[in-house]
Amino acid sequence: MVRKYPNIMFVNVDALTYAGNLHNLSAIEEASNYRFEHVDITDSEAVNRVFETYSPDTVVHFAAESHVDRSITEPTAFVHTNVLGTLVLLQAAKNTWAERKTVGLFHHVSTDEVFGSLGKTGVFTNASPYAPRSPYAASKASADHVVRSFGTTYGFPYIITNTSNNYGPFQFPEKLIPLVLNNARLKKPIPIYGKGENVRDWLFVEDHCEALEKVLFNGKVGSTYLIGGSNELSNIDLVTSLLDLFDDEMGNENGSSRALITYVEDRAGHDFRYAIDSSLTEAELGWNPKHSINDGLLQTVRWYIENQEWLENVLTDAYQSYYSKQYGSQE
Ligand code: DAU
Repeated sequence: MVRKYPNIMFVNVDALTYAGNLHNLSAIEEASNYRFEHVDITDSEAVNRVFETYSPDTVVHFAAESHVDRSITEPTAFVHTNVLGTLVLLQAAKNTWAERKTVGLFHHVSTDEVFGSLGKTGVFTNASPYAPRSPYAASKASADHVVRSFGTTYGFPYIITNTSNNYGPFQFPEKLIPLVLNNARLKKPIPIYGKGENVRDWLFVEDHCEALEKVLFNGKVGSTYLIGGSNELSNIDLVTSLLDLFDDEMGNENGSSRALITYVEDRAGHDFRYAIDSSLTEAELGWNPKHSINDGLLQTVRWYIENQEWLENVLTDAYQSYYSKQYGSQE
């Protein structure tokens, strides 16, 4: 969007915690309509300074602790950043727009995990009740509630989007797909939780971005949009397809990476299945995901093969220590 909308100023606010990486943004860092602010959203003084400096019309709030496994071992950071951080941003936006006497837009980017876990059938819809089951999901659900409460209490202009599992380039190798590709490249065991039967609905990151852009320009204030990939796969089916594509691209013997698959202890409280009904979003905003799962996975596999240096740079000591804490006893 920075390149597509040269007349809009974009201010990127990021705390650059373990998964943040300025190299991801090197292609736009020199753009005249782009600024970076190294700020933690829970720091209200710093956030207020950013709002005073730029007086934004629109806030798109992506900032979150987002990895479920980390929320199981260290839940505090999740409540702190995802709930308190959201409140700090809401207050700053509300005060800025009240002072200017203008109506802005606060777009809160959330997750389908707020709706809990599905069985073998059914889908999440706008009418699904909130039933979060991990500390991560509970913190995102809380944030959604706080955003909506600002709408009802203060007439605050918000939109919420709840999206399914993203995948694609630049994803930190704690999430399933980049973790599998990194381990395959290093010929390390590939940990599958439980029996690998859990199901996720996969959405290519660029399709998600396109949906967010449509929501931003054409969404109705006070609405919630569900965004999904309509690509449901069990973890084991996903991982075997991914490894087969990887072997193909690397010129490895067919199916050889499958031998790395190792079933490990299940995630605590592991949600069985997520599936999103995006039909209302599709009908209202004229959006649908353009990438088939095969096309999206192939692009992703190629990106990780071509960008092994990027991977090497994020495999820090902190990552190694997270990895051995999370998987150590299972190797
Ligand atoms: O549904 C949207 C959510 O998707 C986002 O809100 C979260 O921020 C994002 O992390 C993701 O949550 P998941 O827990 O579904 O993603 P993750 O990549 O961690 O795991 C995907 C599935 O793979 C899940 O069933 C757990 C399983 N898994 C994951 C890892 C990291 C394994 O079997 N082994 C692993 O090592």
